[in-house]
Amino acid sequence: MRKTGGDHKGRPYNGRSSHAQRTDTETAMDQRNFTGDYDTLLELVKTRVSVRNLKPDPIPDDYVTRILEIGRWAMSGANGQPWDFVVVKDAAIKKELFRVYAEENNDFIYWMEQQRDFKLRHPSFQMTHDEALQKQRTGVGWSIAPVLIVILGDGRRQWATVQGAHTFGRDQSHLTDGLANTAMMMHLAAGALGLGSQHVTIHIQEPFKRVLGVPDLLTFSLIMPIGYPAVPPKEGVRRPLDDMVHHETFDMSKYLTNEQVLKYLYGLREKTVPVYSHSYTGRPPVPDGGKA
Ligand SMILES: Cc1cc2nc3c(=O)[nH]c(=O)nc-3n(C[C@H](O)[C@H](O)[C@H](O)COP(=O)(O)O)c2cc1C
Repeated sequence: MRKTGGDHKGRPYNGRSSHAQRTDTETAMDQRNFTGDYDTLLELVKTRVSVRNLKPDPIPDDYVTRILEIGRWAMSGANGQPWDFVVVKDAAIKKELFRVYAEENNDFIYWMEQQRDFKLRHPSFQMTHDEALQKQRTGVGWSIAPVLIVILGDGRRQWATVQGAHTFGRDQSHLTDGLANTAMMMHLAAGALGLGSQHVTIHIQEPFKRVLGVPDLLTFSLIMPIGYPAVPPKEGVRRPLDDMVHHETFDMSKYLTNEQVLKYLYGLREKTVPVYSHSYTGRPPVPDGGKA
């Protein structure tokens, strides 16, 4: 067991930004790890946003490879790397995936979202009366993107990790977390290359598997359309840091009652619906979902 934190060569870890005070020796030691700085990373993280309206213009093959390369380096439980990536550029296959999405996946979600208060529904389902959005969804949608990266999971690879992680009814977290990590890395890579990307969750997997010939045993996790943005960038929305950070022990003053959770969700929707709308259409939503 290590006595102090450090990497495999015994160099100390430090999370200091480029602004932190360092000795020359420390700086030299850092250089072999990462030659960039914290601010560059923060800027990338903050400027990346979901872009749900992409130009059909082709992107260089090299960009796709570079995005996949970053995804390859994601963390995963015991380094199981439970992912496979399918790169789809063929127009007919993209169209078929989107048809399945609109007809089978969204049909189910649309129904589920009708069960709750309009303002609490997922933003995509608060906008059904906005003509432009409707056209997007029932038209070509993300199938117009030059490239789709499909992220698949192989649950067997997660067994690289300790068996305890999967016992006592806990979920397959080492599979889903690994897939989420590789996705996040690739979204950032796309942003770093000046591309937009979307994270299309797949809820009803089977029809998508049939389109791509994916074995039943695998998980069809998500589709990541990537391409040049067709809408101008818009700043993302996040909770303040102080709201989510606790020091030493859990701060019960930050624990939400059920009423507070509902209030939070309503408030969140108010902030994120305009951002969502923007990511599709480049403008705010029609008031009252266009009902008024
Ligand atoms: C697990 C997960 C599932 C998501 N599913 C979808 C999705 O199905 N469709 C979509 O357009 N965006 C999806 N997103 C993107 C989120 O809506 C988005 O990251 C969030 O609203 C913050 O906005 P930003 O990405 O623009 O910063 C998903 C993101 C994650 C991490």
